[in-house]
Amino acid sequence: MPHIPALPPTFRWGVSTAAYQIEGATEEDGRGPSVWDAFTARPGAIRNAHHARTACDHYHRWPEDIALMRELGVDAYRFSIAWPRVQPTGRGPVNESGLAFYDRLTDELLSHGITPLPTLFHWDLPQALEDGGGWLTRDTAYRFAEYAAHTADRLGDRVPEWITLNEPFVHTVFGYALGRHAPGRTLLLDALPTAHHQLLGHALAARVLRERGARVLIANNCTPVHPASGTPADLAAAEAYDTLHNHLFNDPLLTGRYPDLSGYAVDEELGGAVLDGDLALIHQSVDGLGVNYYNPTHVSAPADAGGLPFDLVPIEGVPRTAFGWPVVPDGLRELLLRLGRRYGQALVPITITENGCSYPALDDTERVDFLDGHIRAVADAVAEGIDVRGYFVWTLIDNFEWAEGYTQRFGLVHVDHTTQTRTPRTSYRWYRELIAAHRGTRPGAPGATM
Ligand code: GAL
Repeated sequence: MPHIPALPPTFRWGVSTAAYQIEGATEEDGRGPSVWDAFTARPGAIRNAHHARTACDHYHRWPEDIALMRELGVDAYRFSIAWPRVQPTGRGPVNESGLAFYDRLTDELLSHGITPLPTLFHWDLPQALEDGGGWLTRDTAYRFAEYAAHTADRLGDRVPEWITLNEPFVHTVFGYALGRHAPGRTLLLDALPTAHHQLLGHALAARVLRERGARVLIANNCTPVHPASGTPADLAAAEAYDTLHNHLFNDPLLTGRYPDLSGYAVDEELGGAVLDGDLALIHQSVDGLGVNYYNPTHVSAPADAGGLPFDLVPIEGVPRTAFGWPVVPDGLRELLLRLGRRYGQALVPITITENGCSYPALDDTERVDFLDGHIRAVADAVAEGIDVRGYFVWTLIDNFEWAEGYTQRFGLVHVDHTTQTRTPRTSYRWYRELIAAHRGTRPGAPGATM
């Protein structure tokens, strides 16, 4: 019997997924190519040369996946909409059958009492936009707002709340700075304009969504940063990492300013990207902050003076997931308290939009421990005054884990990627009981709708 977390009765339980990781059907019903289709075709880009042309075949099996959520008893489902299904080249008229897919999905969720929480961009930019410069160009921000308007016009009557972007930090760093994700650019600090253009795109889309009466969130990847020691050099390195990972993406939204980057050889305008009026638009453009948390980060002063202003160092003495990621549940409590301290009254209500771990076993007691620890950490932060409104497990079903292909399994539900058979794990049953216990109902009973 799960421990019943001390969280308010209105607290929302959910699961998160992303279009490219589960849908497959990349060439069906008029979908255009995305940067991930091009990237997965690059030799050596993805472990075992895996690709996502079929992924979990969710594009065809969505009723079965929604049935799994219904049985789980979640209040809400965070999924993402594939921009290249809605606008195959990222601009111009909509592709009706692409939008129709999300329309059916939305109706089916609602018919089971599950609130849809769509993310408009989870990294699958239409390739045609990338060919014109992708997020390095300002125009992509305007195209994003246009796509948001088309999508909200179709689904907005049933969707009360949207997430604009998923993890602009990870997209900038892995996609444009280091080349480990699509579009595979290796621009290092020259990638910084993509951070601003994503935030600008978010803000322009937020305006469009709010005009239509919706609430707007962004899902930011956040991490509490620790210096390897108390030396001034390590402390400065920790401050640099905290600035580039966390503050760069949260400060403009909540305070209307970028943090001071002058110490890191970056100009205040992020490579000339920030124009007059942009920050006023970005400031207060969220009604809630989505926080994706996986682990803390430890850093030391850089060994190589000419490179980045920090080195990442391993976290010792803690368990690790199958992916090798450190398991530090209290890092989530610490992160939430740090957000509270940094932003004070300017902080908006938080939803944990992703938290989870990779473990392959069907009897995945490690995942149960992981989730239990992190949910307790959320409850502790709430008890200490942080306004957290919901928690979404990453993820429902094992899926295409980006550069790792299918080798990492984050699902509450195991997927046999040959037969597409779904098998709920121990953690699925545990989460189902936890939700029911918190709600005071039978497992799998209909969720509270917002
Ligand atoms: C997040 C990302 C998800 C998922 C997860 C686990 O950064 O938003 O798509 O891959 O990490 O690695």
